Amino acid sequence: MTSRRDFLQTASALAAAGFVPRALSAHPLAEAPGGARGGASTVRARPCVVSSANGLRGVKVAYDRIIAGEDPLDAIIAGVNIQELDPDDQSVGLGGLPNANGIVQLDASCMHGPTRRAGAVACLEDIATPSLVAKAVMDYTDHVLLAGPDARRFALELGFTPQNLLTEKSRQDWLRWRARLNPRDMYLDYDGDIAIKFHTGTINMNAVTAAGDVASVTTTSGMAWKVPGRVGDSPIVGAGQYCDNTVGAAGSTGRGEANIKACGAFLAVEFMRQGVAPEEALLRVMQRVIAMTEDRLLGENGRPRFDLQFYALSKDGRFAGATAYEGASFAVCDEQGARLEKCAYLFKASERPR
Ligand code: GLY
Repeated sequence: MTSRRDFLQTASALAAAGFVPRALSAHPLAEAPGGARGGASTVRARPCVVSSANGLRGVKVAYDRIIAGEDPLDAIIAGVNIQELDPDDQSVGLGGLPNANGIVQLDASCMHGPTRRAGAVACLEDIATPSLVAKAVMDYTDHVLLAGPDARRFALELGFTPQNLLTEKSRQDWLRWRARLNPRDMYLDYDGDIAIKFHTGTINMNAVTAAGDVASVTTTSGMAWKVPGRVGDSPIVGAGQYCDNTVGAAGSTGRGEANIKACGAFLAVEFMRQGVAPEEALLRVMQRVIAMTEDRLLGENGRPRFDLQFYALSKDGRFAGATAYEGASFAVCDEQGARLEKCAYLFKASERPR
C-alpha cells in the first residue's frame, strides 16, 4: 500500500526534476509522468475478481462461476446481483435510497473484454437488477445506453419483472430526509441522524479469467435524494467502469459527479496500458479527480470533501483499490479466497476537511 508520505516524496522528487505539469502543480499532489513505479499492486494467479467492499459475497460467487467456466461478465453480474437483490443494501437495486421525489432510479453499465461490447441503463425504475438490463442492451441492441421510461419498457419487453423497489426502511429514511429539508415547510422536523446517512453507494466488480479475458460492471441507486433524472458515473462507460481485453479493467464507487469529469475508469486503464501498476494508476486517477474539482468541494488544504473509490485489475492478475483518504477497503477473490484488502490512499484521515 502506498502511504501519503511515499507519494509526497515521489511527487516532490518529480517536481524537483521538473516533471510536474505546470497546470497541475498548484494542487497538493500534481500528476506524475507515465512509467511504472511498481507500487504494491500484488501479482496473483488468475482468475481474479475485484470489487468494492460491499461485493465481498459477490466476488466469491463470481470467482466460483469463472472457475466453472462461465463467461467473466456473466459471472460478475451474478456477483453484483446479490447486492442488487438484497433489500438491506440501500445503495443498489431493491432497497436503494430514492431520489428527491421518493422514487428509486437505478443506473448500471457493463463491458465485455473479449467482444469489446458495452451496455448501460440510466434512470431505470421498477427493475431490481439494472446490471442485467445493461447487459441486455449490450446483447440485444445496436446501442450502448438506454435511459428512463424507455429503458424500463425495453426491460419489460425482455421479460424482466417490475416491482416496487422502495423498501419500508428506505421510504422511512426518505420521509425523514424530506421532513428536515425545509424548517418552514408543513412537515414536522425529524431530529434523528438521517441526514448523515451515506449519500452515494454503488457496487463495481471486475474480473480476469485464467485465460486473461476481462470484464467489468457497475450498478447503483445513485446519490440519495438526488434531483429526479440525475445520472451518475455508474452508467457512463469510461467513468463508472471500463475494460480493455489487452490491458485490464477498472471502476469506481462514490461521488459520481467528481468521477465523470475525469473519466476515471478509462483513465485508469489507459495508465495501465502505459505500463503503470494498478495501484499507482488509481492514485494518479484520484489526483486527476482532485485537479478537476471545483473549489467549493475542496477544503482550505486542497483536500476533497467527498468520497470516491477506484478499483483496478490488470490482465496479468495484479489488482488494487485506491481512494483519497486512508481507511477504505475493497474486496478480492483469487486462489487465496475472498477477503477485504486495504485501499491505497493519498491522505491521512485526519486531513479530511471538516
Ligand atoms: N457512483 C455512483 C453515483 O454517483 O451515482
